[in-house]
Order: sequence, then structure tokens, then C-alpha cells
Amino acid sequence: MYPKLRENVWHIDPQQETAVLITSRQTFAVPTDRALQFLRMRSYCTGWHSIDGIADKSGFSSRDVSSMLDSLAPAGIVYTDSDRRDTFSRDEEVCDVLVRACRIWSTELQLSYIGNEFSAGRLPKPVLIGWLLEMYHYIRDFPFAIEHGARHATGRLKALLTTYAAQETGHENFVLQSLVNLGMSVSEVETSIPLLSTRLIGFLMRELFELAPSAALLVAAVIEAQGFAEKEIDSFKASLAEHYGIDLHALDPYFEHQKIDVGMGHASLLADNIDLVQIEDRHTLDQVVNKIHDLKHAFDLQGLEIKAYFTTLNGKYFPRQRVDFQAI
Ligand SMILES: [Fe+2]
Ligand SMILES: [Fe+2]
Repeated sequence: MYPKLRENVWHIDPQQETAVLITSRQTFAVPTDRALQFLRMRSYCTGWHSIDGIADKSGFSSRDVSSMLDSLAPAGIVYTDSDRRDTFSRDEEVCDVLVRACRIWSTELQLSYIGNEFSAGRLPKPVLIGWLLEMYHYIRDFPFAIEHGARHATGRLKALLTTYAAQETGHENFVLQSLVNLGMSVSEVETSIPLLSTRLIGFLMRELFELAPSAALLVAAVIEAQGFAEKEIDSFKASLAEHYGIDLHALDPYFEHQKIDVGMGHASLLADNIDLVQIEDRHTLDQVVNKIHDLKHAFDLQGLEIKAYFTTLNGKYFPRQRVDFQAI
């Protein structure tokens, strides 16, 4: 047996007695020491190592590896690559699996989101502005990525994506207004150049939407704000005002945007149009899943890069500048 793992996300706080294991089907509580032990062997559960091989690499006995894998059996995450079908028909729950994957990644994205760190005041102010600059560039590019998908779509999906792109057009102006409230000038923002991870998000989206235009609906389920929690936003704004000495209403336009998108039904685009997701070819399906997973990690990378670039400027341009011919 060469074990492989279905998508399994772990939240482990060494200070707590239990850790959380999230799969596409369920959430499980696992004793923290067991979870930490499992992580040591998880790295080698790639389908390329036998039980003995995993034991060898992780420093456990083969018996321990087997028993840990057995103890995870109820979570259903251990599997072997036995299903070699080339096509799936619609009644085989393909959509269900895709929806569940998007739900995991959407939740993870919200939890790991760099925005959360500002309310704790852990990051310096240039990172706050840097984050908004990247949001500006990402939101400005998003409708062009959707349009790219629309060009590869037909029928109702094409019409839907065209509308979606039109609805998102110009939404960067909400972020721009917040940046102006924080002291940036319009032209300074408009002429700035995004970080590479922000560009990567745009590239990955185009690659994905070209392959399967309906994946734009899956991506919407991952990235669109799922609701507008007025109370939470108010306390977020209050903590920013406290930590960064900014006006309490500086970010109002930014959140106004969320409200508008939720109002246009972007959070439920996938659920409302699930019949348009018809990916039956195994190879395409595998690629779609992998690319959405990559996209989730590109957002994580964007958070890391924002922190790396803006925490200590050390002479780096603020915001990032174009290097044109004359500049050489
Ligand atoms: Fe929007
Ligand atoms: Fe939106």
C-alpha cells in the first residue's frame, strides 16, 4: 500500500489539547500530540512511499505508521490511486466534490487572510497601505480575467461571465478612495505596479478560466465575500483607528464594495448556476482542482509578499514603481 491523502487541513495550537482536522466531508477533533505526530509522517504520504518507506523517512516504526493511518480511517482521508476513469458523468457528484473543495479553501482563505492581522495591530502601517494597494491592483484586474473566461465560454455561461465582469468593472475605485483617505494620491496609486504575487493571481485565473470557463464560478465561491457582518466590520475599523491612528471612516469605501458585491449575489454565483459547471473529462477536472488549489496558495503568497515588501522598506519604493526604458 502506497498511501495518499485526500485534502486534509489541520489547525494545531500546541497550547490546546485538541487539534482540528478539516476534510471536504467533515471536521474532526484530534488530540494535539497525535496531530503533531501525524504531521511528521504526513510529508511522505504522497503515494510514492510504502508504509515501511514512510516509517523510514519519518523515524517511526512501521507499526506506528500503520496505526496512525488506521486511526485516521474514520476521516476517510487515506486512499490509494485506484480510480482511473477518464470521464465522469454528471450524476457522479462531481459538482458536489468541487463545491466542497471550494468551501474548504474559502474558509482557509478567510482564516489566514492578512486583513486579520491588522485588527491586532501586529503589522506596521505601511503594510496596511501596501495591502490596500495590492487589493486595488487585484480588483482592477479581476474583471479582465473573467472576460478572458467569457471569451472561451459559450451560451448561458458566456452571458453570465460577461455580466459578472461588467459588474466587477471599476470596483478598484472603492479601494482607491480608501487609499486616498489614508493619504495616497490618485495618480500615485494608479501608476503603481503590483507585487508579483498579485500578478500571479491574475495569470492563474486566466489559465484556469481558459481551460474551464465555468471554473470562474468556483473561484467566485472561494474568493467572494460570503456576507457583510456589520458588527465585525465596525470593530475591525475601530481597532484600525486605534492601532494606526487613521480616521474611523477611512476604510468605509473598501467595505462599501463588499456590501455591493454581496448585494449583487456574487457569493452565491456558484450555487445559483451550478448547472453550468459541466466538467466531465478527468484530465480537465484534475487540472481545475489543482489550479484552484494553486490560486488559494497564490493568495497566501500575496499575504507573505505584502508583509515582506512593506514591513521594512529599506529603500524599496513605496508604492512599487514601474521600471521603464528611461529609468535604465
Ligand atoms: Fe467587486
Ligand atoms: Fe464580486
